[in-house]
Amino acid sequence: MIECWRLDSPATSLVLVSHNGRLPEVLHFGARLADGENLVALYRAAISDVTGGMIDARPLMSVCPLREDVFPGAQGTDADFQPRFVSAEEEPNSLSLTFADGQAQYRLDVTLDAETDVWSLTAHLSGVEANWLTAPAFPVPSDSDHFVTYSGKWIGEFQENRVDWVTGAHVREVRDGRTSHEAFPGVLIPCDDGFIAAHLGMSCGHRFVAEQLPDGRRQVQFGPMLGRTETEITAGPLYLTRAQNRNGVTANLHAHFRRHIRALADPERPRPVHYNCWEAVYFDHDEVLLRDIAIRAAALGAERFVLDDGWFGLRDDDTTSLGDWQIDPRKWPDGFSAFIEHVNTLGMTFGIWFEPEMINPVSKLYETHPDWILGEADQPLGRQQLVLDMTKPEVIEYLFEQIDAVLSNYKIDYIKWDHNRVLPFPDHRQVRATYALMDRIRAAHPGVEIETCASGGGRIDWGMLSRTSRVWLSDSNDALERMRIQAMAAPWLPPEITGSHVGPRQCHTSHRILPMELRAWVAAQRSFGFEMNLLELSPEESDTLSRVSTWWKANRDWMHSGSHHKLSTRDPEQFAEMIVSADKTRFAVWLGQRGAPADILPDRLRFDGLENRPYRVRRISHFDGGWLSRGDNALKDENGVQLYGQSLMSFGLQPPVLTPASILVLEGEAA
Ligand code: GLA
Repeated sequence: MIECWRLDSPATSLVLVSHNGRLPEVLHFGARLADGENLVALYRAAISDVTGGMIDARPLMSVCPLREDVFPGAQGTDADFQPRFVSAEEEPNSLSLTFADGQAQYRLDVTLDAETDVWSLTAHLSGVEANWLTAPAFPVPSDSDHFVTYSGKWIGEFQENRVDWVTGAHVREVRDGRTSHEAFPGVLIPCDDGFIAAHLGMSCGHRFVAEQLPDGRRQVQFGPMLGRTETEITAGPLYLTRAQNRNGVTANLHAHFRRHIRALADPERPRPVHYNCWEAVYFDHDEVLLRDIAIRAAALGAERFVLDDGWFGLRDDDTTSLGDWQIDPRKWPDGFSAFIEHVNTLGMTFGIWFEPEMINPVSKLYETHPDWILGEADQPLGRQQLVLDMTKPEVIEYLFEQIDAVLSNYKIDYIKWDHNRVLPFPDHRQVRATYALMDRIRAAHPGVEIETCASGGGRIDWGMLSRTSRVWLSDSNDALERMRIQAMAAPWLPPEITGSHVGPRQCHTSHRILPMELRAWVAAQRSFGFEMNLLELSPEESDTLSRVSTWWKANRDWMHSGSHHKLSTRDPEQFAEMIVSADKTRFAVWLGQRGAPADILPDRLRFDGLENRPYRVRRISHFDGGWLSRGDNALKDENGVQLYGQSLMSFGLQPPVLTPASILVLEGEAA
């Protein structure tokens, strides 16, 4: 006996089938099927033959492969149960299927936004002990020859890895207790019938399995790293989408993110230009200097001044005071009021740094509550600190009171919420408690936005981002490295929520000295800001920063509702992308040259996402090719060129020769 369910977006169909009441398998996740298709016939069309060396039927590969199905690959849970169909709830764009074995229950929830074509899949398991549960596993077509995962590190997040499908399992486990720099929980899977993208929107670390069975079938599993045995587990949402190509999935994901995920305090307010004082002064808060910096920041276009680490306890370095969230009277004898007024008068709002989940052993909090830490007292420290046990209600109460007091006493519209060490062991309850704390703070202070940061990109996922308005992508402000990280993170993170700052002249994380033209235009690809001692800027650097900041403010509205497109270039040292306005009348193109060009001359650059109408394209970045660029290139002329969108997309435009560490930025407008 089989039972089938089907959901459709305009482009995609999902068909689930349950055999003899067992957990369903995804029979089809691919191109939209004909309306009247007979699902039983479809099922029959997929029944496999039986041959030697196998059991007398092809084992079921369900959304949660089980031992009882004699499944030969990675199992979807270690729970010992034999669930059978109980009930189905069907709506036009959602489906909920329940299966049970006595007290043990498995529920699969699928919801679809038919317009964005993003599917959210969640598995719930209760009434049985388990350490592991995958979010609903999905099959991958046999025409896919590889998939793309992410590795990374602090100051080097989002490194794409191409993995070829071979028989066996590619398994990755993140045991940091947070999303981690080392493995963003997403995968891109190019297939003939469409490009698939999947992302686990959870922040507790994950297990990823991409497996090809000896019979040729493939499955992908993504599930939370629980770190303990539970009798109630939620795995998901797993966001799943498909489109013609990479830019297509980026469009779906960004549309979905903008509609369902991002948490802006005031969606009407344009994303502000940030000034952050971290790499300017570190812990050395001197109000007189900061006032001067604030004046300069405002003059350069900043709209939000962020006071980073160093304002509380006796925090003169990172050995002390996490947990003591009271203003340091040595540095701020009169509190923040006068400083905030100064900042407000300059036209900026005020934001502040917290790292709520952490505690230094050298702190008043630790003296009073040594028992509040997660793990053993003699565990190794990380950045001189320990983690608070967020499952203790008294810890949450304390943190809420401390943060609430600061937010209630001062005019603050933003928190940079940091998380600078890995947990001593994975425990999914930590981040659930953090989510609840964030939700409570947001409810008490609806005007306050939160930026998620974990030494840069250690906690980037849609679970965290559904509570935050910005993400600190990386602690690397090195424009060359940042250009790569931004390009590789682009499918998952729309430009307006991806923080990007112009850092100090000599980059603190790479020691490279890069031109301001490059640094400023790379930051202008995303949520623009700057973070350096502004007193160090030469007049030329100030002019460049101010020019780019002015351009960004004049263009952010259409960029922040526009579409993002990766452009292909043959030169591995180049990164090219463009943002096109929703009405397709405007666009901006960035062509960055990281290292020395691979060839004597660059390729024509082909655009994407335009209509077939005339566009005027002109260069807006300064170009200085010196004697290396001797030709009569159209983009060297500030008037640019006018061409139809079709020509710009299929024929392309010839860029001039770019020197290493330089960038060409173009602007286009419908003529
Ligand atoms: C982390 C962040 C930095 C800064 C410091 C402060 O490293 O990523 O941007 O806020 O903490 O200690």
